[in-house]
Amino acid sequence: MIGVIIFTGVWIATAAAAAEKGDAAKGEAIFAKSCASCHGKTGKGDGAAAAALNPKPKDLSDKAYVAKLEDKYLFEIIQKGGAAVGKSPLMPKAASLNDQDIWDVIAYIRSLGK
Ligand code: HEC
Repeated sequence: MIGVIIFTGVWIATAAAAAEKGDAAKGEAIFAKSCASCHGKTGKGDGAAAAALNPKPKDLSDKAYVAKLEDKYLFEIIQKGGAAVGKSPLMPKAASLNDQDIWDVIAYIRSLGK
């Protein structure tokens, strides 16, 4: 019983820490403007430009897939682009986004699978 309470507490604290960093609603607007052309409005990888991409972006609304991607990795690929993390250079760096914008976008991406 005590174990369950501790486990639940840790889970809530972890979820809150991730949510604290970014605002998914702001992230949605940034994503629509800067990312949806390739990733699609809801991150499924079906944006207007996606047909021409090889490799195609993975489905960011796949909760199990995105859960395996760490915040640090997501931050880096968005800030520095695919080439900086060993992924395709077709994933551009988001030069116009500041750190908070990037956390907002990450919060949005993490909300997609729900
Ligand atoms: C010009 C098209 C394009 C735009 C614009 C773009 N991306 Fe990407 N993105 C890609 C491609 C292509 C990949 C796949 C790279 C790979 O798997 O090697 C990718 C991969 C990613 C990944 C990595 C997922 C994984 O499977 O590891 C994330 C996260 C991501 N993009 C987020 C964003 C965000 C956030 C924005 C907007 C700020 C954005 N992208 C804008 C093309 C784009």
